[in-house]
Amino acid sequence: MYKISVIPGDGIGKEVMEATLHVMEALNLEFDYVYADAGDEYEEISGIALPPETIDIVRNSQACLFGAAGESAADVIVKMRQELDLYVNLRPVKSYPGTKSVFDDLDFVIVRENTEGMYIGLEEYTEEGAVAKRVITRRASERISRFAFDYAKKTGRKKVTAVHKANVLKKTDGVFKDSFYKVGEEYPDLEKEDFYVDATAMYFLTKPQIFDVLVTTNLFGDILSDEGAGLVGGLGLIPSANIGDKQGLFEPVHGSAPRHAGKGTANPAAMMLSAVLMLDYLEEHDEARKMEKALIDVLAEGKVVTGDLGGTASTMEMAAEVRKKLESL
Ligand code: NAI
Ligand code: MG
Repeated sequence: MYKISVIPGDGIGKEVMEATLHVMEALNLEFDYVYADAGDEYEEISGIALPPETIDIVRNSQACLFGAAGESAADVIVKMRQELDLYVNLRPVKSYPGTKSVFDDLDFVIVRENTEGMYIGLEEYTEEGAVAKRVITRRASERISRFAFDYAKKTGRKKVTAVHKANVLKKTDGVFKDSFYKVGEEYPDLEKEDFYVDATAMYFLTKPQIFDVLVTTNLFGDILSDEGAGLVGGLGLIPSANIGDKQGLFEPVHGSAPRHAGKGTANPAAMMLSAVLMLDYLEEHDEARKMEKALIDVLAEGKVVTGDLGGTASTMEMAAEVRKKLESL
């Protein structure tokens, strides 16, 4: 029995969550779901977007499924990353048949440092304009590198690529790069390499097949993740994981999409793939592969899919189709 916190949030977050939980009922696993509030709607009635009770509920669960928040998203998700020290942001870049993927043979993972770098909020105005500080610590660089190597080892991947700009950011990215190679010594069986971030951005477009696991600092990871999402077509398809030493929080990359909200037209795939990442995090790899396959089959057939994928199915119709496939596996 897994204790899972569930934060549906706002708009289509609630709809894709319902669809995903409907599919998960067909897994051979027992879940104890604890629902928690966060987001714009909750803020309207309570005055606060992320109540302390929600953080406690997430802290006391093994993993959290998060739908999406609206305007309060930054407060909700950034605060949760900090409070729970979710220092890894993991984004798979995988092409699935039946989707608008630019390439049909991509399967790599971006591991982004989630707590420091350019995003620590140390910005100030000066007489000339403004200055931002970029903090790179050995501790954070080593733990994100270790996560990337462990992840590569566990998932049977062969190579980890560090992405940086140490030719210009000599000290900060020097620390990052040195930490990567230092930790890498503990993983003799894995191939290691490092690329400059600008070259990496180009290789994403020209030869992304060379990548396996990438590890990088906060800002570069943010940008490359979105570039990766662009390679495999559409916000409705892209999952993500925020992982710390004690919890994981799994969420689609998209937001509350007010234009779709309440219409039952949102694509539930990104939320379902986030649940697949959660199953892998819980080491339930067989169930993860089953749920992933059920979804992939529905995408590939392209018959019972939502409007963004060229179909006419509703969110729950697509979920029912995925569940039917899952039950037949
Ligand atoms: P969005 O991701 O909510 O929607 C952008 C567009 O992408 C939508 O209009 C729709 O055309 C498409 N789209 C997104 N998800 C889809 C799905 N599942 N199925 C089909 N089409 C989909 O981003 P937007 O419009 O910039 O933000 C809307 C609200 O969401 C804002 O209030 C924003 O703050 C919030 N947001 C929350 C996030 C979170 O909770 N992690 C992340 C991003 C935005
Ligand atoms: Mg982003």
